[in-house]
Amino acid sequence: MDYFQYQPDPQSQTETLYAEGVALENVAKTYGTPTFVYSRKTLTRHFEAYDQAFGARPHLVCYAVKANSNIGVLSVLARLGAGFDIVSVGELERVLKAGGSPDRVMFSGVGKQADEMARALEVGVHCFNVESLSELRRLNTVAGDMGKIAPVSFRVNPDVDAGTHPYISTGLKENKFGIDIQSARAAYEEAKTLEHINVIGVDCHIGSQLTELAPFLDALDRVLALIDELAEIGITIRHLDLGGGLGVKYRDEVPPAPADYIARVVERLGDRQLELVVEPGRSIAANAGVLLTRVEYLKETEHKNFAIIDGAMNDLIRPSLYSAWQEIVPTTPRTGEVKSYDLVGPVCETGDFLGKDRDLVLQEGDLLAVRSAGAYGFSMSSNYNSRNRACELMVDGDQVYVIRKRESIADQLALETVVP
Ligand code: LLP
Repeated sequence: MDYFQYQPDPQSQTETLYAEGVALENVAKTYGTPTFVYSRKTLTRHFEAYDQAFGARPHLVCYAVKANSNIGVLSVLARLGAGFDIVSVGELERVLKAGGSPDRVMFSGVGKQADEMARALEVGVHCFNVESLSELRRLNTVAGDMGKIAPVSFRVNPDVDAGTHPYISTGLKENKFGIDIQSARAAYEEAKTLEHINVIGVDCHIGSQLTELAPFLDALDRVLALIDELAEIGITIRHLDLGGGLGVKYRDEVPPAPADYIARVVERLGDRQLELVVEPGRSIAANAGVLLTRVEYLKETEHKNFAIIDGAMNDLIRPSLYSAWQEIVPTTPRTGEVKSYDLVGPVCETGDFLGKDRDLVLQEGDLLAVRSAGAYGFSMSSNYNSRNRACELMVDGDQVYVIRKRESIADQLALETVVP
């Protein structure tokens, strides 16, 4: 459920799309396009769906910052008491700037550098999700040099097929992530011998955009067996981090609700006294955002009708990169002849499209909203073709806040210099 709904338009006697209490046509007139628009109420609702699912059980909902790392977005979640899952020092600094609490931060990622570890130890993150023995040893050294103890979980790779796109499936043994679950016991035993490491948890993350519970529950069973085995050799695990990965509805998927997912997890825990941690990204942010883009030209050829829009693959790369389908709707639907259009951007690549074969009634100048663009939208955007990155707005009721100004050409050139 989100707060992007059509409402009657007082001026034109038709319907027009609103974000909460704000008409998107007005937003585009004021701020231009392409522009990402987020809804605070939707973000809040999605976060609370997780937070409330745990009831009184000790838990931490760590929003995966990579999904949408704008500090305006992070600040909304920080105020709700969210924790954060980060994968770089850049994400850590964003969390801190947004008012997030370092002791609710999980530091994930396969390639943590020594300076990133040091900064995370300095501010006191809750836990490092360690992905290899080499990383463990480096962390022990960095912590030792600082006279600190690093709290650690191993990310274990349970070898389950998440049944999602191969690029976003991470829990198979051929993937680069985590420690093979068969070798995990030995890794924990080594960690126990290191002076500057304190083992506190077990972590796993098997992939993204999962629309079934079965792979999560298979992974859970394997991880619980490991936790029991560790208990037998005197290694007590305080928390279990299940990662992120719950899917969203882009088209006709029917993903499980967070409450159903968590209920099934809790059921399987039995009387184990584990704190639960989850790291949802997409399921909090995706449907809390749209990308507004305007039709520049209609180019109708014998073979194809193209709508050339001002949003492109540099703004939203998911369709080009994963053949992802995202709904694209006119903000103010018009009557007329329906035609099938490819919605393509100005970037010089055939792969630059946001949607293909979409039945629409269009005129040049029309405004479109690409739905489900709140996650892995702006955060994966680039300056390809020297395009300025889009502006980002947060709607809160009938207020609009600019949470990232549109980039300028001067911004793009600022870090570069000509050769003398
Ligand atoms: N935790 C870890 C360790 C992760 O690697 C990820 C996502 C998450 C949590 C959050 O997963 P989520 O709840 O969002 O599924 N760019 C791709 C998605 C890549 C996901 C990478 N890891 C896309 O646009 O579909």
